Amino acid sequence: MTASSAAAALGPVPSNLLPDNAQVGANGHLHVAGVDLVELAYDYGTPLFVYDEDHLRARCREAVDAFGEGVAYASKAFLCRAMARIAHEEGMHIDVATVGEMHVALAADVPADRLVMHGNNKDTSELAEALEAGVGRIVVDSFDELDKIEALVSAGAQPPDVLLRVTPGVKAETHDFISTGQNDSKFGFGVSSGAAATGVERAIASDAMNVVGIHSHIGSQVFRVESLAEALEVIARFSEPYGLPELSIGGGLGVAYVEGEATPSISKWGAMTREVADRLCIGASIGAEPGRAIAASAAVTLYKVGTIKELPGIRTYVAVDGGYGDNPRPVLYGSDYTTFLPRCPGADRTLVARVVGKHCESGDVLVSDAHLPPDLTVGDILATPVTGAYGHSMGSNYNKVFRPAVVFVRDGQVREVVRRETVADLLATDIG
Ligand SMILES: Cc1ncc(COP(=O)(O)O)c(C=O)c1O
Repeated sequence: MTASSAAAALGPVPSNLLPDNAQVGANGHLHVAGVDLVELAYDYGTPLFVYDEDHLRARCREAVDAFGEGVAYASKAFLCRAMARIAHEEGMHIDVATVGEMHVALAADVPADRLVMHGNNKDTSELAEALEAGVGRIVVDSFDELDKIEALVSAGAQPPDVLLRVTPGVKAETHDFISTGQNDSKFGFGVSSGAAATGVERAIASDAMNVVGIHSHIGSQVFRVESLAEALEVIARFSEPYGLPELSIGGGLGVAYVEGEATPSISKWGAMTREVADRLCIGASIGAEPGRAIAASAAVTLYKVGTIKELPGIRTYVAVDGGYGDNPRPVLYGSDYTTFLPRCPGADRTLVARVVGKHCESGDVLVSDAHLPPDLTVGDILATPVTGAYGHSMGSNYNKVFRPAVVFVRDGQVREVVRRETVADLLATDIG
């Protein structure tokens, strides 16, 4: 195996990209919460999502400390019953964007009144289920949704507490696909067009709902907390005349995925939010909905290297047993990741190779220019850190590849919380 001269070699994987409780064990392997990742991969198979449970809990507590009672975990980042329970136990509400997410949270025994229901196109049947379950808040996204709620309440449903989602006209500096606060957006009621004012006034006048606040979410993987502050200013000024008790600034705080990236902490985001609130004398309580910042760096994904192809003068391809089925972010957004070998996390990574998956697409690339130790070999366990958000939750089983298992590790113990799919799962909905 030859080291590429085209890209700079990298040293050991930086610790800020690893879960809080990662450390090198006596055998030189990377351990998370006292569990050897190489052994874990052999025991549970690959690909495998490994979450540091105490890291998840610590981020949830940090969010509650930073924002108080009104903070919700955005479950679209990563959801299973164990995750919903953790967020709930640590004091967070849970943001669910569909009835599917709602039912998973309810199945984890999260009380319905701790759920905040989102979605830009909620079907009447979804709204009916949410009202029937008694979700705590519905975040209304359109005039059509106001009509649907009114129709449901006239048919006997209890009037829900609602926030109206507005688009503040603030463009987050992030990928277009995850930028949502600009005027040209499918989400919410535009502030600058006047739709937001019309929507709020209509909702306040309606007997079918109790308007408790205004919501905005400008996008995801946002590095500049100033953009989040700007959005808060816009919605605070907008909602002031209505005297509503709640404002939610959504989620969006970015995380570092690769060497050299640094992002503000949840605490810093909270402190900056309080500064803006004090400066503008905002009386309403301010909530937030972090997803990525809670879950992303809590997890690493473990893969097994199955094939290494050196194309002389072109590049080296390293194929692993997962791919965009378990992490579509590189394909969707051109996202970059770091790679390392858990058997030698301290090794210099002088080999530059393209890490690809096993799906039948050339675009099935996990890391375009991955840095790996030069003694990489077939059968090695390869890890991509910071894969706890929007990986498992956005995954697919394209090519009928089994969705991976998820384990939580804590104090040297392993808990399998999502098992790997089987042929029976693939056929469960195929009724012939
Ligand atoms: C309404 C809403 N809230 C919260 C989030 C979570 O964002 P993030 O994971 O970037 O914190 C999203 C993500 O798309 C969202 O749409």
